[in-house]
Amino acid sequence: MPDLHGKRIILGLTGGIACYKSAELLRRMQDEGATVDVVMTAAATGFITAATLQALSGRPVWEDAWDSRMDNRMAHINLSRGADAILIAPASTDFMAKLAHGLADDLLATLCVARGAVPLLAAPAMNHEMWIHPATQRNAAQLRADGVTLIGPAEGQQACGETGSGRMMEPDQILRALIAFFQPKVLAGRRVLLTAGPTSETIDPVRVLTNRSSGRMGYALARAAAEAGAQVTLVSGPTALDCPDQVTRIDARSARDMHAAVLPLAAQADIFIAVAAVADWGIRNPSARKLKKQPGAQPPQLDFVQNPDILAEVAALPQAPWCVGFAAETEDLHAHAQAKRQRKGIPVIVGNLAQHSMDATDTELIIFDARGTHPLPRQGKLQAARQLIGWIAGHLPETHAAPIG
Ligand code: C5P
Repeated sequence: MPDLHGKRIILGLTGGIACYKSAELLRRMQDEGATVDVVMTAAATGFITAATLQALSGRPVWEDAWDSRMDNRMAHINLSRGADAILIAPASTDFMAKLAHGLADDLLATLCVARGAVPLLAAPAMNHEMWIHPATQRNAAQLRADGVTLIGPAEGQQACGETGSGRMMEPDQILRALIAFFQPKVLAGRRVLLTAGPTSETIDPVRVLTNRSSGRMGYALARAAAEAGAQVTLVSGPTALDCPDQVTRIDARSARDMHAAVLPLAAQADIFIAVAAVADWGIRNPSARKLKKQPGAQPPQLDFVQNPDILAEVAALPQAPWCVGFAAETEDLHAHAQAKRQRKGIPVIVGNLAQHSMDATDTELIIFDARGTHPLPRQGKLQAARQLIGWIAGHLPETHAAPIG
């Protein structure tokens, strides 16, 4: 099911060149199953036409508080009733000032003041000097204090040619923030540490020994934990994936790098989820020079050394976080997973059959704990990650559930 299935969103556009991105945002919201009603300020119509947004949304576009298409001429009341959220993108300097002061001099501003309990999100978009102006900063702080969710702004090149903070977030980022907004905040205040991806053990400067892992499952879990309101740190082996929003990523190459990155962070975490496919062995003496192929000579002999078991070490810490391991097996999943859980001294291990999830976008997980097994359906990795995070939140013992203080 798409992430905004059944949601009715009011998309408010205010004056700014970033309005051109709002057409794409509207499409992406619809792709995720949302029904979108567009409301524009007069300034927004200087940048993009109502006809464009009407054609894309397939619904009337609203600009005027006195619109006679509403039987009672109360568009400012009717539109927000039954809406799941109002998203202002772009939110101009002027519109943020209006919102912060409760002004209601056009349809969109009035709608926001009259919205009752409907959540309000806003993606600021303006020149960087306008964004850092003390009045704008005061207004942004006031809006946050009033419970408005600000998305961005981003840093970078601006339409005026200057560079700085004030660009509107890209449509995909705004969409992800909106989707995250609707996820239940079951890990609010928790600190979650994860490992993800493969590790890479150096043989010589051009050759490595690695595991087959895309990192998708671990990254999906990091995203799901952040969506659930946790403070998330992801220690990642080499992958081609983008760091999820609101997640702090620390890069590691070898198993030893990963071990060195994880251990100092582990005692401060409430939950540790070890998803990385960590190499069991490193190379004892990696060559400083590229090993050369000699005609007729024997291939080089690699001398292995056992790597530290990061998960087992974290689980044995005096102030250990609640540990969740992963087990990818090719057969006898139940027996191997339960044995691994007990050997590593962890409360939970999540098993999957490697041939069903490796290199795939879908997965079929089984949660193993002391009580037995809890199978999850076959589904996309993000959906599986959200379900697993929900399960973890529901089973987290009181001792690990102390909020950040
Ligand atoms: O020991 P094995 O690799 O079978 O166990 C898999 C689980 O242990 C995964 O959660 C993996 O991230 C973690 N692990 C680890 N450090 C290792 C090996 C595995 O943290 N050296």
